[in-house]
Amino acid sequence: MNVLVTGGAGYIGSHTCVELLESGYGVVVIDNLCNSNAESLNRVQKLTGKTLKFYEGDVRDVALLRKIFAENEIGCVIHFAGLKAVGESVAIPWKYYDNNLNSTLVLTKVMEEVGMKNIIFSSSATVYTADNEMPLRETSRTGNCTNPYGWTKYMTEQILSGMAFADKEWGIVLLRYFNPIGAHESGDIGEDPRGIPNNLMPYITQVAVGRREFLSVYGNDYDTHDGTGVRDYIHVVDLAKGHVAAVKYVAEHKGCEVFNLGTGTGYSVLHMVKAFNEANGLELPYKIVDRRPGDIATCYADPAKSAEVLGWKAEKNLMDMCRDSWNWQRKNPAGYGK
Ligand code: NAD
Ligand code: WQD
Repeated sequence: MNVLVTGGAGYIGSHTCVELLESGYGVVVIDNLCNSNAESLNRVQKLTGKTLKFYEGDVRDVALLRKIFAENEIGCVIHFAGLKAVGESVAIPWKYYDNNLNSTLVLTKVMEEVGMKNIIFSSSATVYTADNEMPLRETSRTGNCTNPYGWTKYMTEQILSGMAFADKEWGIVLLRYFNPIGAHESGDIGEDPRGIPNNLMPYITQVAVGRREFLSVYGNDYDTHDGTGVRDYIHVVDLAKGHVAAVKYVAEHKGCEVFNLGTGTGYSVLHMVKAFNEANGLELPYKIVDRRPGDIATCYADPAKSAEVLGWKAEKNLMDMCRDSWNWQRKNPAGYGK
C-alpha cells in the first residue's frame, strides 16, 4: 500500500518515511520545502535502500493534489504539513490559519473526490487546557489555546472529527504528540530548524556544537521538583513508529480516534541538561533567565490508550534521545545546509 506523506521532508515526516519504507509501504511525499530541505529525502532513500516519490509543492494546491492521487494509488494519508512555530503564529496569525487550516480542507476535499478517506493527522499536546491534572488523557479538557498555532491544531481536530461524524466512511486518527526529540541512530537525518531554535533540544545541540553561546533556561521558579519546566520528551523514531501503528489501525477502523504519543514520563529542563552532558561527555553552559511567556510548569502524557488500542509504546530512553540528538548535530553541524 502507498502512503501519501504531506510534509514528509520535515523532521517527523522524514523519520516516518524511513519507518514506512522499512515496514514495506510505498511512500509518496508532498512538501513545499518551506521549512525543510529535499536532502532529507535523499538521505531517507540512502538509509533504507528504497525509493520514494517526491512532489515539490503546496498541499493547498488542489490541482497538484488531484494529479498526485491520479498518478498514485494511495491507501492512506499522513498529514504532517503545517507551520509550527508558536511565537511566529502570534506575530503572523493569518499565515498560520491559512496554511494549517486550508491545507487540511483542500487535502480532505480531494480525498473525498477520489473516495480515499483514511487520514492520520499531526495534532499536539498543546490542544489540552493548562488547568488539567497530569498525566493528560485523551479525555482531558481541550481548548483555551494560548496562541494561533495551538488553535489551528484544535480547529483541525474539530473539522476532522465533524467529518467523521457526518460520513461514516472516514477513518481518522488524531495523534497528539508530546515533545519529540532525538534523531535516527545513523545521524543522517534529524531536526534542522531554520534560524534560532524555539525548542529545547535543538537549542542544546546548537550550543554544544558552538553555534550558540549558552542555553537560556526559562525560569526556575515553577512548581516542579527543581523549579524548571517538566515535559514528556519522546524519541522521534518511537513517534514515527506510532504512525506506522496508526496506518495499520486506520485500515481496519472507521470513525475518528485520538491518541497521545508520549512516554508518560516528564523531565525538567535541568534534568535534560544533565542527561545530555552524561550521555555525551559534555558540559553545557547555561543561564537561568526569566520565564518564557505562555509556558506551563508541567506537561506529560498518559500513553495507555495508544498501548492498548494501537499496540504502540515508546521504547527508547532519555539517554538514547540525548545521544542521537547530539550524533545528528555533530555529524551535521550546519544541518542539511552542509
Ligand atoms: P517540520 O517543519 O520539520 O515539518 C513540516 C513540513 O511541512 C516541512 O517540511 C514543511 O516544509 C512542510 N509544509 C508546511 N506547510 C506546507 C504546505 N502548505 N504544503 C506543503 N508542505 C508544507 O515540522 P515537524 O516537527 O516535522 O512537525 C510535523 C507536524 O507535527 C506539524 O504539523 C507540527 O505542527 C506537528 N507537531 C510537531 C511537534 C514538534 O514539536 N516538532 C509537536 C506536535 C505537533
Ligand atoms: C520545553 C521546555 C521551556 C527552550 C512546544 C510547543 C508545543 C509543541 C512542542 C508543536 C520548556 C524550556 C526551551 C530554551 C528552555 N509543538 N526551554 N530554554 O514549549 O513544551 O512545546 O513544542 O505542537 O506546541 O509549544 O517545548 O522545547 O520549546 O520547551 O528553558 O531555549 O524547555 O521553557 O519548559 P514546549 P520546548
